[in-house]
Amino acid sequence: MRLIFVQKKGKNLNTAVINNITDIKNTVKEWRKSNCTIGLVPTMGALHNGHASLIKKAKETCDKVIVSVFVNPIQFGPSEDFDKYPRTLDKDQNLCSNLGVDIVFAPSANEMYGENNRLNNTDLTFVYPPFKFTDCLCGKTRTGHFDGVATVVLKLFNISGADYAFFGQKDAQQLFIINKMVKDLNLDIKIIPCPIVRESDGLALSSRNKYLSDEERSWALSVSKALKQIKTLYSQGVTDTNILFDTAISILNSNIELEYLEFRDYNSFEPIKKLKDNSLVAIAVKVGKTRLIDNIIT
Ligand code: PAF
Repeated sequence: MRLIFVQKKGKNLNTAVINNITDIKNTVKEWRKSNCTIGLVPTMGALHNGHASLIKKAKETCDKVIVSVFVNPIQFGPSEDFDKYPRTLDKDQNLCSNLGVDIVFAPSANEMYGENNRLNNTDLTFVYPPFKFTDCLCGKTRTGHFDGVATVVLKLFNISGADYAFFGQKDAQQLFIINKMVKDLNLDIKIIPCPIVRESDGLALSSRNKYLSDEERSWALSVSKALKQIKTLYSQGVTDTNILFDTAISILNSNIELEYLEFRDYNSFEPIKKLKDNSLVAIAVKVGKTRLIDNIIT
């Protein structure tokens, strides 16, 4: 069978960019003939070292690696940054080539959903994870976000036929919801969580860091400092989440708007009053207009 790649030309670019679903499925079918294991790294592009760490892990684990680059319209609310979200496909392709990725899958919204491809699409079959997990933390202010995430992730799993998928722990709620979907729907894929990657001064890497001015970036540093202090206090025996909450508030830069700081059991996602091993401390803030999230696991 002849495989057709829609490949953007560029210097020394070895990684093909495939834009359509049929081509990716045909490619995967060919790979399967030689029993290759396939890893998927789902992304929205604007790749940074955090994504690179997922890709490296995928390369270590699998024979073939697909990186999807898709700014998924159905996970953005009407007043969110869908139009503004950084799109840097050529740079992303370069990074993927340097890391030995086999294919970048970069479909259009029409390819994925047809013409009516926004969150309010009532013609689309959505995945609705349990409300109790989608309506809290990030879901409180991002109505429908995790339905859009679960829907696109299931589609990407089906399209790629991957054996393994790699997700960052920075989006801890997303990771929990995806693991739950995999378990509840008996999906034949193994989810590999990968640790948060930080700048040397502690700032968690995020594609949205690009929006920060120098001044805002310096304010944002107080987020990882607050989390670090919670971890230090916990290692000294402080478990009362009220005390830990107040400590974090006292460290957060006063120009930052706190959206939430929550303490949850990492495995069940239930709220907790006393910190224990395997707890998630998750935070979301607004720094200027930029929304950032971060977390630690005890
Ligand atoms: O974490 C992300 O970048 C996105 O939510 C994901 C998983 C690629 C789905 O669009």
